[in-house]
Amino acid sequence: MIKPHGGKLVNKIVTGPEREELLKKGLELKKLQLDIHQLTELENIAIGLYSPIEGFMVHDDYISCVKDIRLENGTIWSIPIVLSCSKNFSDSIKVGEQIALCSEDDTIYGILEVEDIYTVDKKFEARNVYLTEEEAHPGVKNVYERKEMLLGGEIQLLNRVQHPDFKDYRLDPKDTRKKFEELGWETIVGFQTRNPIHRAHEFIQKSALQIVDGLFLNPLVGWTKADDIPAKTRMESYLVLLEKYYPKNRVFLAVYPAEMRYGGPREAILHSMVRKNFGCTHFIVGRDHAGVGSYYGTYDAQHIFKQFTKEELGITPLCFEHAFYCKKCGEMGTSKTCPHGGDDHVFLSGTKVREMLKNGEYPPPEFSRKEVIEILINSMKDK
Ligand code: ADX
Repeated sequence: MIKPHGGKLVNKIVTGPEREELLKKGLELKKLQLDIHQLTELENIAIGLYSPIEGFMVHDDYISCVKDIRLENGTIWSIPIVLSCSKNFSDSIKVGEQIALCSEDDTIYGILEVEDIYTVDKKFEARNVYLTEEEAHPGVKNVYERKEMLLGGEIQLLNRVQHPDFKDYRLDPKDTRKKFEELGWETIVGFQTRNPIHRAHEFIQKSALQIVDGLFLNPLVGWTKADDIPAKTRMESYLVLLEKYYPKNRVFLAVYPAEMRYGGPREAILHSMVRKNFGCTHFIVGRDHAGVGSYYGTYDAQHIFKQFTKEELGITPLCFEHAFYCKKCGEMGTSKTCPHGGDDHVFLSGTKVREMLKNGEYPPPEFSRKEVIEILINSMKDK
C-alpha cells in the first residue's frame, strides 16, 4: 500500500475518556463558531485526508505554501488549509490558549491549540495560488470573503460532523485503504470530478483502468459554484453508470468531502495528494483539471507536476489529452490517437448542453449516455 503524503496517516480523532475530559474542558474554553464548510475542513484534517497536515496552517506554512507550493519543512502542499475568524474574536484570545471549535448551535466538535494568530495579504494568495486577483474567479472570491484573521495550530476532533447526505459513501482514508487491500488492488487510479460522467470521462477512466487494478471514483461533494450540477444529481448519475457500464469488481465509489477551489494547476496537486492519502497510486489529470473560465491553459494542471520529483509526489499523475468521439474513427480518442479534424469530432460546450437539457433535448450518445441525460433532465424538471 502506498504511503500517505508525508509518511504517516494523520489521526486527530479523540475517543474514550480523553474525549469526555476534553468535552468537559471545552465548556470552559472560548468558543469559535464554525460554519459547515469550516467544520468539514476540521474533520478532513482529523481523518488524515490532508496528511501530513495536523491542524490549521500557521503563518510560516501558509507563506511557504502560497509562495513555493511546499510546507515550511519542504513537503509539497499547494493550497492553504486555514481557519479564519473576526478581529474581535482573535483580539479575545492569546497564542498558547486552547479554544473550542463549535457548530452554529454551540456543539463542540474540536479543540484548537492556538499556535499563531495572523493576517494575510489576500491578493498575494490570489495571485500566487489562483494566478489571478479577479473576484470573478470563484476560488478567489471565497478567499476575499474569508474573515480577516487566521488562527493556526493543531486540532483534535471530538465529534464527527453529521453530514445528512451520501452516508454510505463517506469513507475515511483509513477505510478506503482497508477496502483497497480487501479488494486485492495494488495499483489504484483516483478520479476527481465535479461533473456528471460524460463519455470523455468514461473513456479516460477506462483507458487508465487498462493499466491498473482498480478505479477509485471520488466525486467532490463539498461546495461548488451555483451553476455546477448539484452533488445529489451527480451521485445518481454515477450510480446508474456504475451499475450498467463498469465491472463491479474494478470500481470503488466514495465521496471527496472538500469544497471546490477552481484552482487549476494548484488544485490538481492538492487533489492528487488527497487521493494518495486515500490510498491511490495513480491520479487522472485531464484537460483543464479543476479549471474555470479561461484562467488556466488546457494542460497547465499537467505541467505543474513536472516541478516535483517522482519521489516527493509519491503518486503518479496519468495525464490525458482532450478526449472526444470521432465520427470518422467511429470511437473515442484524443489527438494522440485520432488523425481527423475538429469537424469530425463531437463537441458540445457546457452552455450548449445546459440549453439542450433545459429544452428536454438529448445530447448525442457519443457525448453522454442516455441514462445520465435522463437523470439531468429529470432533476431540472424537479426545480
Ligand atoms: S474538475 O473540475 O473536477 O476537474 P471535471 O469533473 O469535468 O472537472 O473533470 C474531471 C477530470 O476529467 C479532470 O481530470 C479533467 O481534466 C478531466 N476531463 C474532463 N473532460 C475531459 C475531456 N473532454 N478530455 C480529457 N479530460 C477531461
